[in-house]
Amino acid sequence: MRIDVYFTPLGVAPGDLAGRGVVVIDVLRATTTIVTALASGAKAVIPAATPDEAVRLAAKLEKNGVLLAGERRSVKIAGFALGNSPREMTPAAVATKTIVLATTNGTPALVAAQGGDPVLVGAPANFRALVERARQVLGERGDLAVVCAGREKQFAIEDAYTAGRLVKALRKGSRKVQVNDAGQAATSLTAAFASWTEALAGSEAARQLAEADLAEDVAFAARADRFAVVPTYADRRIT
Ligand code: MLT
Repeated sequence: MRIDVYFTPLGVAPGDLAGRGVVVIDVLRATTTIVTALASGAKAVIPAATPDEAVRLAAKLEKNGVLLAGERRSVKIAGFALGNSPREMTPAAVATKTIVLATTNGTPALVAAQGGDPVLVGAPANFRALVERARQVLGERGDLAVVCAGREKQFAIEDAYTAGRLVKALRKGSRKVQVNDAGQAATSLTAAFASWTEALAGSEAARQLAEADLAEDVAFAARADRFAVVPTYADRRIT
């Protein structure tokens, strides 16, 4: 059995993930937001690589029940109904809606992971359920790719830490699972912080969110196991 961690989607070429079990992680904030939206009753989230693509995809859907959401430099995109804050994804705002979401790093990473089967959406917010589901996939496939969204094409510590905790949980009781070098580095990182709160606190993404007056999103994202849903991305939509 084998787990490969990718610290950014840049190392993933089209077709690399075809037919492989995949987990995509963008703790601050896209995957936290997607998990929260679906746990709040959203019908689906459609990830878009860019805001323009989001507008195009939304135009093809029925007007009723579709919400455009997304950020640039953490701030809601002008003309969109929602930003990318998990705190906006309340049942009142999103239940029964289809959300077309464009974010800087997270949704392009999801789009790059298309072709994986299944593609699971993970964050601390659904961590316990994610481990269960990922363990099942690893058992069935013998192989798992963990793709961190990173930040602006660079390593992001909060995603790598979460990938490390996932690898560690999946290897528990089974030393037979091989991991790539990034997976080993991610696992080592789990010893550097006592909690998600610590791991997220010093990150560049947390700093950017604080500058945008969105520091509460960091606290939201750091609270593990809020939800038991594990969203799956298939046929261009996450449900
Ligand atoms: C992203 O997907 O780029 C991030 O979630 C950025 C953010 O929400 O500020």
